[in-house]
Amino acid sequence: MENLITLVNNIQRACTALGDHGEESALPTLWDSLPAIAVVGGQSSGKSSVLESVVGKDFLPRGAGIVTRRPLVLQLHRIDDGKEYAEFMHLPKKRFTDFAAVRQEISDETDRETGRSKQISSVPIHLSVFSPNVVNLTLIDLPGLTKVAIEGQSETIVQDIENMVRSFIEKPNCIILAISPANQDLATSDAIKIAREVDPKGDRTFGVLTKIDLMDKEGKSYKLQFPWVGVVNRSQADINKSVDMIAARRREREYFQSSPEYSHLAHRMGSEHLGKMLSKHLETVIKSRIPGLQSLINKTIIELEGELTKLGKPIAADAGGKLYTTMEICRAFDQNFKEHLDGVRAGGEK
Ligand code: GDP
Ligand code: NA
Ligand code: MG
Repeated sequence: MENLITLVNNIQRACTALGDHGEESALPTLWDSLPAIAVVGGQSSGKSSVLESVVGKDFLPRGAGIVTRRPLVLQLHRIDDGKEYAEFMHLPKKRFTDFAAVRQEISDETDRETGRSKQISSVPIHLSVFSPNVVNLTLIDLPGLTKVAIEGQSETIVQDIENMVRSFIEKPNCIILAISPANQDLATSDAIKIAREVDPKGDRTFGVLTKIDLMDKEGKSYKLQFPWVGVVNRSQADINKSVDMIAARRREREYFQSSPEYSHLAHRMGSEHLGKMLSKHLETVIKSRIPGLQSLINKTIIELEGELTKLGKPIAADAGGKLYTTMEICRAFDQNFKEHLDGVRAGGEK
């Protein structure tokens, strides 16, 4: 039986592939209904650092200004052994083992869609990382919330980013990973402000406090249904010295274990714990949504069959091929869901 997160990943990719062709079908609804975890936070809140810590790799573009200008759907696949590598959906035949090249490709592919104008685009980039150091998990990185446009960027960019972030996190099946730096007043956190707006009860928001090492030990508020997770990422000085990510994880663990304030909470702090907890949560959410997703998928299969019939035979080469592949993925999905449900009924699920 395929892992539920992998199943949802396949559907996500199929939706994007067809979306590129401007297909009018049930797919946008399906994409909107898929459980996902979106990462939100203000610029320099530590978003990229958290993602890199969870992955255990240094691979995201950095720099001043608005670096993330397209959603990055980051799919993590745990492999038992072997060398870690990455693959982009838009370069299916290329296997990246050099993560500096991954960083370059994210930035090049961002420019391909948005031009040199430094605009933003909601067309996602799909990146898969295969590694023994990750848990099965999908995270969507979004542009950082900002208050001012910088030179070369349009006046509307501040609002455009906010609208894009909101369009992702307002979906009821979206899990929000809200990143706030511990050395700033939480009341002014961009992440918390926007999360509260779309999820006032905090039912689907996970709060992450970065820069715990820089914290001015003040009180925090915003009651969430889930406990806050504190992390210590690499500082700018560490990044300049290229401190290894796995060493950084170890150092983070030691920080919490030896800290007088946090040692009693050490087991639920840090980026490794965060990754494991999110993976488990995502799987639980997917499981609870199986019946709804299944009926949506069946509807999609029927619509795709209709579109294929309309195209006639012989099927118009490219569009037909993609529609057909998507339909096959949906069918496989449906079958797997049935197996998962049978497993649940039989009490055989782990
Ligand atoms: P983003 O703009 O939200 O993606 O933020 P980055 O991940 O690029 O981080 C911004 C800056 O904060 C970088 O210089 C990081 O090294 C630094 N930073 C991030 N997290 C931490 C942390 O936990 N501790 C310390 N000391 N610095 C951090
Ligand atoms: Na940010
Ligand atoms: Mg960043």
